[in-house]
Amino acid sequence: MRRLLVAGAALALILLIAVALISTGLIGGGIVGATIREVFTWSAGGGAALQPGGASAHSWSEAERGLIASLSIDRLRPLPPDPSNAVGDNPEAVALGHALFFDSGLSPDGSVACSTCHQPDRYFTDGKVLANVRDVDTPRHTPTIVGIAYSDWFYWDGRKDSQWAQALAPQEAAVEHGGTRTAHARYVLSRYSSEYEAVFGPAPDLSDASRFPGEAAPVEDEAALAAWEAMSEADRGAINHVFANIGKSIAAYSRKILPGRSRFDDYAAAALANDGTRMAELFSPQEAEGLRLFFGDGQCTDCHNGPLFTNGSFHNIGLPLPEGSKFDQGRSLGTVQVVEDIFNCLGEYSDASEEACVELRFIKIEGEELIGAFKVPGLRNVAETAPYMHNGIFADLDAVIRHYNHAPPAFPGHSDLVPLAFTEEQSAALIAFLLTLNAAPDAPPELLLPPEGTE
Ligand code: HEC
Ligand code: HEC
Repeated sequence: MRRLLVAGAALALILLIAVALISTGLIGGGIVGATIREVFTWSAGGGAALQPGGASAHSWSEAERGLIASLSIDRLRPLPPDPSNAVGDNPEAVALGHALFFDSGLSPDGSVACSTCHQPDRYFTDGKVLANVRDVDTPRHTPTIVGIAYSDWFYWDGRKDSQWAQALAPQEAAVEHGGTRTAHARYVLSRYSSEYEAVFGPAPDLSDASRFPGEAAPVEDEAALAAWEAMSEADRGAINHVFANIGKSIAAYSRKILPGRSRFDDYAAAALANDGTRMAELFSPQEAEGLRLFFGDGQCTDCHNGPLFTNGSFHNIGLPLPEGSKFDQGRSLGTVQVVEDIFNCLGEYSDASEEACVELRFIKIEGEELIGAFKVPGLRNVAETAPYMHNGIFADLDAVIRHYNHAPPAFPGHSDLVPLAFTEEQSAALIAFLLTLNAAPDAPPELLLPPEGTE
């Protein structure tokens, strides 16, 4: 009762001031109109009764409009250069990386390329629960690489701190490309020698097989490991250098694959302009309700915020463990691995100055919050990239929202979620909103296909 009285008094005061200001010509009616609407919306408990025909779904306060705009692709800053990759924006490196991304010659049996798992027509994912080649599962689900160049950390656990360093690991993982760095250096320097030298200058001579074995790398395969350890330090350095350059060209290519404009982004522009007619053309009341829940009661923007719908950080959200699998430590192991990685920002193959490696220098290595924590994925085009989560545990968005509704405690570690207990209608509205984020990648069309002249 007291609240109502206060509200009533505030309203009367605002109306009085408004009338006075308009009549003195100090301000236009529009601004005051918006303020009055906010007070009405609040005092009428949602404002639904005031706006016939469902228009209330699209009535947003100034603060809400700001929040909506903060998620818009119009706010995506131009991609900053990667100081650790001097050729990151070099067009010839892009062309070489484009070829390498699709080239299954970077696997010993000629069967696996990056594009085997990061398929352009699936938004650079593979549709599988866990990535799988040669009928063997990898431990994790394939994330998209669209817009990933904006990340500070790569992989679900962030065990890499640049896109070029990331691009090296799958080439030697037994369950992915399954190759070795000497084989890949030899392959690239023979098949792409002029392209390589145009970007990186003169290539080393690897023809002496006694110094540069066909298959040598610090991998589990014993023969390849022994061959690697038998090499001189200088020769290993020469190979690492070429290997890093392979990663840098692939990263130059991947940096070009950015998220496209979705229906939500047009809606955000209409909301910012407070154009109710346009908003109603773009979003159903249910979709607008879903958006309201997304940053309101759902608290999704605590973690999925900014134009890419991620805070770039790591959280444990208490996911169920797939049957028969071991607990995945996530970020608590990823931090240790990235600090030890010879290809990190501070390492000798990086082009960055020490000062530029801010993220790595100030990394938090330990903490309970890192246990079982994984990188917050972006949500653009999320409807097209099922299944979901680092372990692919959820087949569809219904299952994802059910999880957020229950939010069971995590074990081990600590879940950062609170149960939402949304109704069926609320859950459906949230999903309807997520579907408005659909958009194909924004990239030169030729980069979404294997380069001409290859298969
Ligand atoms: C066998 C399937 C497979 C192949 C082949 C593969 N990837 Fe991946 N990719 C994955 C999986 C699975 C992950 C997540 C692994 C993890 O987090 O531990 C991943 C993660 C990534 C990420 C990190 C995304 C993020 O959100 O941080 C990038 C970038 C990437 N891959 C690029 C590449 C490139 C470049 C190649 C080729 C050199 C490649 N991948 C080859 C399956 C694959
Ligand atoms: C405390 C941080 C946090 C909050 C709050 C949060 N999320 Fe997430 N979300 C994550 C993390 C972390 C993952 C990945 C978890 C993993 O794989 O272990 C994720 C994954 C997802 C995925 C799967 C994406 C994919 O590509 O696999 C969807 C969809 C999603 N969240 C939607 C939502 C929605 C909708 C809300 C609000 C109801 C929400 N999230 C709230 C942190 C959060």
